[in-house]
Amino acid sequence: MRPPKLTLVGAGPGDPGLITLKGIEALRTADVVLYDALANPALLDHAPQHARKIFVGKRKDLHSATQEEINTLITSLAFKYGHVVRLKGGDPFLMGRGGEEIEVARAMGIETEYIPGVSSALAVPGLAGIPVTHRDVSKSVWILSGTSSSGGVTEDLKLAARSSATVVILMGVSTLQEIVSIYTSEGKAGLPVAIIQNGSTESQRSVSGRMSNIIDLSAKAQIAAPAVIVIGDVVRFLDPSTKEATHSENKNQLR
Ligand SMILES: C[S@@+](CC[C@H](N)C(=O)[O-])C[C@H]1O[C@@H](n2cnc3c(N)ncnc32)[C@H](O)[C@@H]1O
Repeated sequence: MRPPKLTLVGAGPGDPGLITLKGIEALRTADVVLYDALANPALLDHAPQHARKIFVGKRKDLHSATQEEINTLITSLAFKYGHVVRLKGGDPFLMGRGGEEIEVARAMGIETEYIPGVSSALAVPGLAGIPVTHRDVSKSVWILSGTSSSGGVTEDLKLAARSSATVVILMGVSTLQEIVSIYTSEGKAGLPVAIIQNGSTESQRSVSGRMSNIIDLSAKAQIAAPAVIVIGDVVRFLDPSTKEATHSENKNQLR
């Protein structure tokens, strides 16, 4: 048996072509792969047949592994089988709890490696035509979570709403009303907003408008998670041809 090792691998935003070569190399030497809902399952084909492939993501109406259970799985499987690859959507260190997993493994004396991934925060807007910064429009970008551990939006959102930077919000579909109300109270009801669902997959779809009408528009379009919210003048670059999924067979669809 090989010495215990944990490799955190960024799976990218959904398109299986958006993983790194290093990520693929890590999968090729995996004894166990623990994968999330936002990691495209097609990537498991890079792992050897003998490797155990264990889903630890969230599935509607079913028990999902808690973070504590995942931490325990990582360490116990590394000691039992050797190389554990933790395949996580986007980049493991951006709102992915990758930092905690590395910490737990290190504390148990397990060798660790981090292989960055293409984050949805930048790639999903980009693939819909929106550069998150643009010399003439926005020089910086804030990336925020739309939900805090206590349920509502984070205090940081109030600061972000005052900034002139592009704001990218992950996990914000369920708190859209709160987000809109914060921006509206800052006098920014006219600010452009886009919401992009299932970015980089064949089921990518999006909606765009202004703070004042985005709630109605996204409800009508039935936009649901996983989705990225982009706020700011760069939204004008949204490519209309990427708005609706053009394929009915969603091979790359995220769970
Ligand atoms: C737990 S966070 C993980 C983010 C991930 N680590 C990353 O770097 O992309 C999950 C959120 O990322 C966003 N997300 C991830 N993949 C996406 C995709 N393909 N399309 C739209 N949003 C996505 C959604 O906001 C989703 O709720």
